[in-house]
Amino acid sequence: MLRSALLNVMIKAARKAGRALKRDFGEIEQLQVSLKGPANFVTAADHRAEEILREELEQARPGYGFLGEEGGRREGSDKTHTWIVDPLDGTMNFLHGIPHFAISLALEREGAIVAGIVYNPATDDLFSAERGKGAFLNDHRLRVAARTRLADAVVSCGLPHPSRGDAAIERRNTAAVQERVAGLRRYGAASLDLAWVAAGRFDGYWERNLSPWDVAAGVALVREAGGYVTDFAGGDAPFVTGNIIAGNEAIHRELMRTLKEAGKTPDERS
Ligand code: IPD
Ligand code: CA
Ligand code: CA
Repeated sequence: MLRSALLNVMIKAARKAGRALKRDFGEIEQLQVSLKGPANFVTAADHRAEEILREELEQARPGYGFLGEEGGRREGSDKTHTWIVDPLDGTMNFLHGIPHFAISLALEREGAIVAGIVYNPATDDLFSAERGKGAFLNDHRLRVAARTRLADAVVSCGLPHPSRGDAAIERRNTAAVQERVAGLRRYGAASLDLAWVAAGRFDGYWERNLSPWDVAAGVALVREAGGYVTDFAGGDAPFVTGNIIAGNEAIHRELMRTLKEAGKTPDERS
């Protein structure tokens, strides 16, 4: 498969950071049983991976801006390009020795996401997409699932940390969707949730209160695989609101309708 120079740069950086994360993941098992626990170690792994990504990308594309979850925003001399990076998405899984986590890396050009990589170094699943050129898992072209009925769908969601978000709304949302779908899942890495929608493994996905680095690459993957991604109002602002619904056209529409209805207060419903 012939990849563009841009994707090659992104993949090289993701694989290098992935090797470091995988080494650190190997240490986690020992740390699980230590009294101190692996939390500090994970924070260090996270920062290390972001540093590797920043250095690699800076070397290949000097001057691009960088928005990383750990280091925040760094302006570049080139104001039209910004990397959007989550060096470790699925931290809780990583911390618990669960091999479901990823590096999420996207490139924004003049306000639009033009390429995205989601890489799980534990499974070596490398998802990539570039605007107008399709989405891939390793060398295989991706297409969102074709199922059109919620009743046949496996749908993934995110649940907020108890200290964040509105727990009552989340409970209403999950209850409403669970009653209508074949299966509801919560895997704990937003970037992989979106990548799995692109791959047709999940028929749909929704989550609230996300950050741009959680979803930028995954949004590119879903769109290039022929899927729909919007905020909860059906608009093109999942990065602004942090709320996201994804799926093929039919499942996206049904999910949006179900969540809209479930999110209302009892007064609004009658
Ligand atoms: C989290 C994961 C999780 C989602 C959270 C995110 P992190 O990212 O994507 O699935 O539910 O909202 O913050 O903290 O592991 O990078
Ligand atoms: Ca994240
Ligand atoms: Ca993270």
